[in-house]
Amino acid sequence: MIKAGFFISFEGIDCSGKSTQLELLHEYLSSKLSKEHNKVPIIKTKEPGGTELGNKLRDLLLNTNYQFKAKFTELLLFIADRLEHIEQVIKPNLDKKAIVLCDRFLDSTIAYQIGGRDLPESKVLEINTLIDLKPDLTFLIDIDPDSTIWQERFSDKAKKIGKDRFEKEDAFFYQKVRQTYLKLAKKEPARIIVLDGLKSIKEINLEIINIISEHLLKLKND
Ligand code: ADP
Ligand code: TYD
Repeated sequence: MIKAGFFISFEGIDCSGKSTQLELLHEYLSSKLSKEHNKVPIIKTKEPGGTELGNKLRDLLLNTNYQFKAKFTELLLFIADRLEHIEQVIKPNLDKKAIVLCDRFLDSTIAYQIGGRDLPESKVLEINTLIDLKPDLTFLIDIDPDSTIWQERFSDKAKKIGKDRFEKEDAFFYQKVRQTYLKLAKKEPARIIVLDGLKSIKEINLEIINIISEHLLKLKND
């Protein structure tokens, strides 16, 4: 039996493969480890859009029909989504000792709003102090937006489902986001594990399972 909840986030630029890896880890933990650990609840969630309000905010944030004139509107909508998500979903589940898997969290704001959008770092960090929760572990799926592999994936998605507000940005925007993520990982190497997004889905999944297994053993024994 694990003794406390465990909060894991998945980060990376769009189409890095985060959601695929989150799904695979969810399947793995739900079928195998949850039995070994006395049916620990395994929750999957995402930002923006982990609550009913969050889904409305997600639409405002991603739908290109809405225009933001003011510099900080986008940031504050992401923060509102996160505050509700933490109170309604993440904390109550961690209190029940669940393992919570979240597709994007606070690091996305640093990478996209400071790195990508060039918002002033001090202001964003000040606003981020409203968020009183940090993941225990973060998987950063790193991929170069200049790589043909990523560009093909990105344009396949655009052809199938169109582009959202962020996906309309150019390669330079995604380079800035990627570099900001890598800087964050350098600052917090124990929490942020960088995985090579050019590897196969299976290889990345196995690396994640190995890392998670070590953490769960620790949680069991602590
Ligand atoms: P994200 O959640 O980061 O936007 P997805 O997990 O939705 O990315 O993956 C985007 C696309 O890339 C999907 O079609 C997925 O099947 C594919 N994909 C994800 N990871 C890999 C990988 N390691 N190798 C090849 N294709 C991948
Ligand atoms: P989404 O479709 O959920 O991401 P993905 O394509 O990676 O699966 O889109 C969410 C978008 O919002 C994505 O481009 C990143 C951006 N974002 C921010 O800019 N700041 C944030 O704090 C969060 C959570 C997301």
